[in-house]
Amino acid sequence: MASISDIDKSKLPRHVAVIMDGNGRWAKQKGEHRIFGHQQGVASVKEVTEAAAELGIHYLTLYAFSTENWNRPKEEVDALMELLVGTIHKEVAALNKNSIRLQAIGNLKSLPKNCYTELMDAIQQTSKNDRLMLILALSYSSKWEIIDSVKQIAEKVKRNEISVDKIDDAVFSSHLCTKGIPDPELLIRTSGEQRVSNFLLWQIAYAELYFTETLWPDFRKENFFDALLDYQNRERRFGKTSEQLGNTGIKI
Ligand code: FPP
Repeated sequence: MASISDIDKSKLPRHVAVIMDGNGRWAKQKGEHRIFGHQQGVASVKEVTEAAAELGIHYLTLYAFSTENWNRPKEEVDALMELLVGTIHKEVAALNKNSIRLQAIGNLKSLPKNCYTELMDAIQQTSKNDRLMLILALSYSSKWEIIDSVKQIAEKVKRNEISVDKIDDAVFSSHLCTKGIPDPELLIRTSGEQRVSNFLLWQIAYAELYFTETLWPDFRKENFFDALLDYQNRERRFGKTSEQLGNTGIKI
């Protein structure tokens, strides 16, 4: 497994996004309830956040709760919300100590009131931090976000604030939840599933995708370094040829 010294600090992605998957299966393998898997998953959240901050990655987005997750049994949804509220509350001091700024994307108004309040409070309390932005995707789905963006732009067209021919990539991006945040260069998904599951569909247009069999509660700093090392060995061409990039063997 890779260690921090294997990573080339001059070729880091600015933004890494993670689909944290496999909590339920991890718990089942241990004969425990799915909720136990989510609880253990919090340790992995801390590991990866710490590793990203240590390395100097600027943005880390974690898919913590999707729009579709509302359809899970009420007991599991309630436990996840409780875990979020509790973890956010407990971790604010550590976030401030490490200069990590918390942000959230998604349909945040649909969260239970105590969760929404705790989240807004932590976002406000960490707003001056500038080492790493930790973005939690909560009640998030990319299709929801894209439709919401279309609606905002359509309203502006209706009010004559923007003309149709001025709508481009930049205008569209500036109406997404991620406005002002650079697109992720790397998307990691744990647990062996090879899907993007309605996560940042617009923003990952050119992201490198990394899939690992490791279940989220087992994911440690070294697994994160493995993903970064793999990323650093890829050639990012953005539609161009290797020759056009003047490829000299330098990949990223
Ligand atoms: C996916 O595993 C994981 C989730 C839906 C929740 C992720 C939440 C946490 C790791 C804990 C709280 C996070 C923060 C940021 C405090 P799954 O349940 O789909 O697993 P399965 O595919 O094995 O069933």
